[in-house]
Amino acid sequence: MRIRVDVRDAPYEVYLGDGVRHEVGGFIAEHFARARMAVIITSPEIRRQPWFDFGIGIGFGVETTVIEVPDGEAAKTLASLEQVCEQLARHQVSRHDVVVGVGGGAITDLAGFAAAVYLRGVAVLQVPTSIVGQVDAAIGGKTAVNLAAGKNLVGAFHQPAGVWCDTATLVTLSERERVAGMGEVAKCWLLEGRTRAQLTDASMVELIELSVALKARIVAADEFETSGTRALLNYGHTLGHALELAALARNSDELRHGEAVAIGLAFAARLARALGRVGDDVVTQTDAVLDFFTLPRRCPRDLDLDEVIAVMARDKKAHHDLTFVLAGGEGYEVVAGIDARVVRGALEQFREA
Ligand SMILES: NC(=O)c1ccc[n+]([C@@H]2O[C@H](COP(=O)([O-])OP(=O)(O)OC[C@H]3O[C@@H](n4cnc5c(N)ncnc54)[C@H](O)[C@@H]3O)[C@@H](O)[C@H]2O)c1
Repeated sequence: MRIRVDVRDAPYEVYLGDGVRHEVGGFIAEHFARARMAVIITSPEIRRQPWFDFGIGIGFGVETTVIEVPDGEAAKTLASLEQVCEQLARHQVSRHDVVVGVGGGAITDLAGFAAAVYLRGVAVLQVPTSIVGQVDAAIGGKTAVNLAAGKNLVGAFHQPAGVWCDTATLVTLSERERVAGMGEVAKCWLLEGRTRAQLTDASMVELIELSVALKARIVAADEFETSGTRALLNYGHTLGHALELAALARNSDELRHGEAVAIGLAFAARLARALGRVGDDVVTQTDAVLDFFTLPRRCPRDLDLDEVIAVMARDKKAHHDLTFVLAGGEGYEVVAGIDARVVRGALEQFREA
């Protein structure tokens, strides 16, 4: 299955299905005839997985090298970026060669950023292996690392040459990662106006396909996040990011990104209702979709409302006021300048429920 991401300069495909990772070598041979080397960027944990069997160069005359980086979010540092670039230079990687990111969203973000800046840009092929990576992080060209001051504060737009979402890699995900990843899928399902009832017959491939197709459409419409269309993908993220930051400040991994997004989706439905934009049915549908995926949808009891509202107002995508993606009569839209008292009231009710 292929889904096209129609960005202006270099449109590319997302290949989705069982075993598509084995097509990467042929793609390189076909599209990068002058490539001498394919450099896989991954973590030791990912490299240990039974499906880590690319054979990219075999039969195609391309040498394959692996650069290991720390697992998960620890990969997304300027120090890792420097180490990756040093190793690319040591391997004499040229602009004809390709970088291949293999792993969760953290690794594809780092691999994409390294490819964006090494030699002022080499091609990157993404092989996301987590659900968040497949439906979100690896598509759309946003790459970044973190600073102590915050997540994703240093990065670049650098579209991949192709994305291979191999569902066979998902089997080794831990249950928690799998469920958390469904937070982004639930977001896409709701943004597409789908219901809980329609979920009953949906396969995993169909869920990923719907999410990839939505992301591809939105990225093509707003590649550099200038028109506001891309901000729709932040549905559930205003509160979600604030909850993640609060958990991070406590140095806790109690909340995965997708879990925070799920709670953010439940709240966004309630805020839309508090603003008179929608009725109870939207809250009921949202809760039912989140329950189907066994995602959390309750506000943490000990949430400091003043702190969370202050963080939401500072959100780098919020333009310094309270901005949410909300459901309404015309579908979903970005709503800026929401009265902090209304948000606080809805949060209080959400916390007590
Ligand atoms: N660039 C974007 O547009 C974008 C969008 C969404 C998220 N992100 C970024 O993505 C990151 C989150 O991605 P994530 O949720 O994939 O987390 P992650 O990359 O931290 O991976 C989570 C864990 O899952 C493991 N894992 C991944 N695939 C596996 C598999 N197939 N089998 C077993 N274990 C596997 C990883 O090794 C890691 O330990 C964040 O850094 C976020 O900022 C970027």
